[in-house]
Amino acid sequence: MKFLKTIGTCVLALSSFVDAASFTNPLKPRDGSDPHISFSGGYYWMMTTTWTDLKVTRAKTLGGLKTGETKTVWTDKNANRCCNMWAPELQYLDGSWWIYYTAGSSANLDLQRPHVLKGGADPFAPYTYHAVLTSTWGIDGSVVRFNAPWGNQFVWSCMSNNLQSLCIAPMSAPGKIGATKVLSQPTQSWEKNGAPVMEGAAALYHGGKTYLTYSASYCWTPNYSLGLLTWNGSGDPALAASWKKTGPVLTSANGNYGPGHNGFFNSPDNTEVWNVYHATANSAGACDGNRYTMAQKVNWNSDGSPNFGSPAKLGTTITGPSGE
Ligand SMILES: *[C@@H]1O[C@H](CO)[C@@H](O)[C@H](O)[C@H]1NC(C)=O
Ligand SMILES: *[C@@H]1O[C@H](CO)[C@@H](O)[C@H](O)[C@H]1NC(C)=O
Repeated sequence: MKFLKTIGTCVLALSSFVDAASFTNPLKPRDGSDPHISFSGGYYWMMTTTWTDLKVTRAKTLGGLKTGETKTVWTDKNANRCCNMWAPELQYLDGSWWIYYTAGSSANLDLQRPHVLKGGADPFAPYTYHAVLTSTWGIDGSVVRFNAPWGNQFVWSCMSNNLQSLCIAPMSAPGKIGATKVLSQPTQSWEKNGAPVMEGAAALYHGGKTYLTYSASYCWTPNYSLGLLTWNGSGDPALAASWKKTGPVLTSANGNYGPGHNGFFNSPDNTEVWNVYHATANSAGACDGNRYTMAQKVNWNSDGSPNFGSPAKLGTTITGPSGE
């Protein structure tokens, strides 16, 4: 009897071990800032800010990213873009993978610019330097996809009237943008804690609508949080008047402070959208490598708009993405 019971426990332990569809946060406990995940070809591909280089980690389950295969895909000796590498993200455009990232000089942050590398058929394929996207200070570049007549737009964090704002420009090619416009400025109280900031934009598509999240307030405060811009569906997306701002939509909770700089990815079966973002255990907020990577499913309100919930306590068992 005792023997059988032991076997029973063993079987149970084994079946919960092979249940890939659950995981715990954080996915990356250190240097988990500015995370971005894409699901493609049976793998999750994750990038975060690692400061001196660009790294891609892949795994077949979300929880597997904690110990996933990691490749350093880029280092650079060019003095104008060697250093302070931030916020890399993978985008699949025109039949290959591209990495959009921020980089500048070692001396200070004045040369921070959005850059793009051209890759190959999967995110582990070799990269070549492709282009710098702006000639003035800019960080956190991302691509927002629109159908004709608009086409893809580049969105990044720019300085406008001394406010760290969001800028937008149409993309004529993965490394080439047209006329720049200011898309939105940090004018609401929850966007101005510590300093007025809008950065880290990420596109979200659902139910025929296009949304853009971004991070608001200064990262060295617990008030760093996500805001939401909703496209009205008909106006030129490069015009501020075509978007409506709401927020904050994701804020500090359960010991996770300053949740922000997120990305979105689809579940393997494409039925769910997931939010990957960073937070810190430091109740004063953090802008450094102490930020860890968290992921959770996006739910939807009755009007179809996204509901980001709140960051669960670290270590909470979470059901993994559908289709794992
Ligand atoms: C900033 O965050 C702190 C801690 O979460 C909170 O108590 C405070 O009300 C927030 N301040 C503002 C102006 O939102
Ligand atoms: C969308 O925004 C544009 C301004 O860019 C405006 O002209 C248009 O009327 C708006 N459409 C809707 C459906 O609100």
